Amino acid sequence: MRVLVIGGGGREHALVWKISQSPEVTEIFCAPGNTGTAELANNVPIPADHIDQLLAFALENKIGLTVVGPEQPLVMGIVDQFQEKGLRIFGPTARAAELEGSKVFSKNIMKKYELPTAEYEIFTSHEKAREYFNKETGPRVVKASGLAAGKGVILCCNAEEGRNAVDLIMQDKSFGEAGDEVVIEEFLEGQEVSVLAFTDGNSVLLMDSAQDHKAAWDGDQGPNTGGMGAYSPAPVFTDTMRQLVRDKIMFPLISAMKVEGRPYQGILYAGLMLTKLGPKTLEFNVRFGDPETQPLLVRMESDIVPLFEACIDGTLDQCELKWKQEPSVCVVMAAKGYPGSYEKGKEILGLDEAGALSDVVVFHAGTKGEEDKVLTNGGRVLGVTATGVDTPAAISKAYEAVSKIQWDGIHYRKDIGAREQVK
Ligand code: AMP
Ligand code: GLY
Repeated sequence: MRVLVIGGGGREHALVWKISQSPEVTEIFCAPGNTGTAELANNVPIPADHIDQLLAFALENKIGLTVVGPEQPLVMGIVDQFQEKGLRIFGPTARAAELEGSKVFSKNIMKKYELPTAEYEIFTSHEKAREYFNKETGPRVVKASGLAAGKGVILCCNAEEGRNAVDLIMQDKSFGEAGDEVVIEEFLEGQEVSVLAFTDGNSVLLMDSAQDHKAAWDGDQGPNTGGMGAYSPAPVFTDTMRQLVRDKIMFPLISAMKVEGRPYQGILYAGLMLTKLGPKTLEFNVRFGDPETQPLLVRMESDIVPLFEACIDGTLDQCELKWKQEPSVCVVMAAKGYPGSYEKGKEILGLDEAGALSDVVVFHAGTKGEEDKVLTNGGRVLGVTATGVDTPAAISKAYEAVSKIQWDGIHYRKDIGAREQVK
């Protein structure tokens, strides 16, 4: 079977890497891909949100399965368009992808079906949103409702910061029309865990847990990013917690989506805060996480392709998911300045040396090839991923590999996985 993976980040390299191990697969294409995917797949120069071109490519090249990485094409309806032409594609339809595309929709669903989440209010008026902070003066979180490339969430310590956040989103329109509606919610405290599940719309198969590191700098300081590193499993996420999350959050949500006439097929990703009152959902994403996918997939023992197929066919209840015991750690190597402005086009050295270490996979994110060189081509450049007998071993292996890699203007966190060590 020929498989098309859509996207060009670290998550997509990890997907291509895992899919390439399946005996069912004869050829892989990745659109647009990066230098890492080019080693295992044929890169196709079509951006992930050019749905018409992707559709034409899939039809022409007799693609048997398409797997979508990023949220944008899902929210735009790539699954609906592929399905209309009889193509097999893994992921939710546009109406189901609204769970990520609209935070207002997602919060309202959670409220209607009594799923645990932060208390919130919704505003479409800038003035009313500002007035909210006349009565509420404690810490709050202000969120643009629409897609904002992971940047539309502002943590506010007090009313003044809250009003500034509302001005930035609703008056200055810093996230464009994603900020036409805002959600203002209670600030939750606890450890964050990412829980991803396969679902065919009826059954839900949870993956092992992972923990992301969102802040740019060590010690969880600095601006929020797409994720600076992740590890799996997250020991705070116990088996009891897992059962609770499956029975009280994931499964009820999938049932709710069916009742709402928005049946859900694909990956359901719950960003959870483990509060003193139990796990509460911060957000749902409708896709694999990045970088969580990198440490998850190096630990996944089962072939991933039959799982994609079972989700499409509605036979997920017949599947099992097996994991390697060894923990894994992914350290994101980014361009200096990320998540703000950064330079591209720097030559990356030491990739072969790092990749030659045992139990290490260097996933590419923002890279491109030029002649025989590999150049930086994005904010997050590499996801250096290692497994080990325990988390400290995986951490030192990952950083050993990181130390072999160089370019002009590297930034990475030195404390990925360390949070787990202090407990
Ligand atoms: P979201 O995209 O909604 O998950 O928000 C991005 C990040 O902001 C999350 O991963 C959390 O670190 C943080 N966050 C979001 N909502 C809350 C909340 N209600 N309380 C505390 N932190 C939050
Ligand atoms: N790592 C966070 C995300 O994929 O949304």
